[in-house]
Amino acid sequence: MKESILQASGLYHVYESKAEDGNVVALRGLHLDMKEGEAIAVVGPSGSGKSTLMKCLGGLMKASAGSVSLAGKNMTRLTGKELVKLRQKTVSFIFQEGNLLPNLNARDNVAQPLRHQGVSSRKSLKLADSMLDRLGILPRAYALPKMLSGGEQQRVAIARALITNPRLIFADEPTGALDPVTSREVLAMFKDLHQNEGVSFFIVTHSKEVASFANRSLELRDGRFVAEHGDDVDVEDLSKDRELIIDETGTVTLPPDLLVKLGGAGRYTVGDVSSGSLKLQGEAIESMGKMELASACPACKHDYADSEDQLCPSCGSSRPMVEV
Ligand SMILES: Nc1ncnc2c1ncn2[C@@H]1O[C@H](COP(=O)(O)OP(=O)(O)OP(=O)(O)O)[C@@H](O)[C@H]1O
Ligand SMILES: [Mg+2]
Repeated sequence: MKESILQASGLYHVYESKAEDGNVVALRGLHLDMKEGEAIAVVGPSGSGKSTLMKCLGGLMKASAGSVSLAGKNMTRLTGKELVKLRQKTVSFIFQEGNLLPNLNARDNVAQPLRHQGVSSRKSLKLADSMLDRLGILPRAYALPKMLSGGEQQRVAIARALITNPRLIFADEPTGALDPVTSREVLAMFKDLHQNEGVSFFIVTHSKEVASFANRSLELRDGRFVAEHGDDVDVEDLSKDRELIIDETGTVTLPPDLLVKLGGAGRYTVGDVSSGSLKLQGEAIESMGKMELASACPACKHDYADSEDQLCPSCGSSRPMVEV
């Protein structure tokens, strides 16, 4: 059995706010065991907690509760300095946007993580140039970020993430700003690092192509993992190869489409429990009335009309159940 590169247990995160809408519980008790060399994709609607999870796992943000271990070290127990050091030599991040330092040109941005590790300026810049070349943007090496297109900026960010030879790369929608051709090239590069150099990937994505490169995909809804999928998952049709997750606290969260099929929230009797199987039988609680999928998106008011969509096509929020 391979060693774990990343482990989390009982991870909760609450964004506290004094504003009228109050606190937001973004993560609700997550467990994760990622093996060295594994590629995991996290899929789920907008606002489900994907970016929050990535930041907590990467040690960029302290979770409200729970623990995270990176390369066998419990990050919750490290001092600020130790944490920075562990992160520097183990992981790299690629965010949705805002990856680059605005006042440094492309090659200085790429060289900077090496400079931080004490590598000489000359050597860092030389390596930065070859990385920029690998990503096809060496001709833009002296441009400031604001002079680069979104896709070019993202490629510089990827070069910057790769230059330290990290064992684990956290990427939040890494190809979101790229055109299909560049996106495919970047994915091919990730695949190569994954297969031939044993680099682990934790990738947040909406894209079918990205998710299909992962060994498994985890489906996040409202701060909980609701299901797991094997490789080659179709993000448009998650129900096809879904395996439900019962977490270590015994909680199972049904994806909304399954809840609808079952008849909605309610009281169910349990029969025929045996190892590996469980039979639920019952009806939606009478007092709650019959449930059905909401006809309009609570976030953006999109009208679902007759569609069976689970996610809002205009804002990506999950579609809730409402009483009839
Ligand atoms: N800094 C913050 N303060 C308060 N609430 C926040 C903050 N950041 C995120 N949230 C809330 O936490 C929840 C999870 O947000 P998160 O950014 O993790 O979602 P996401 O799955 O990455 O969404 P997207 O696909 O749109 O990037 C959302 O309800 C969001 O509004
Ligand atoms: Mg996000």
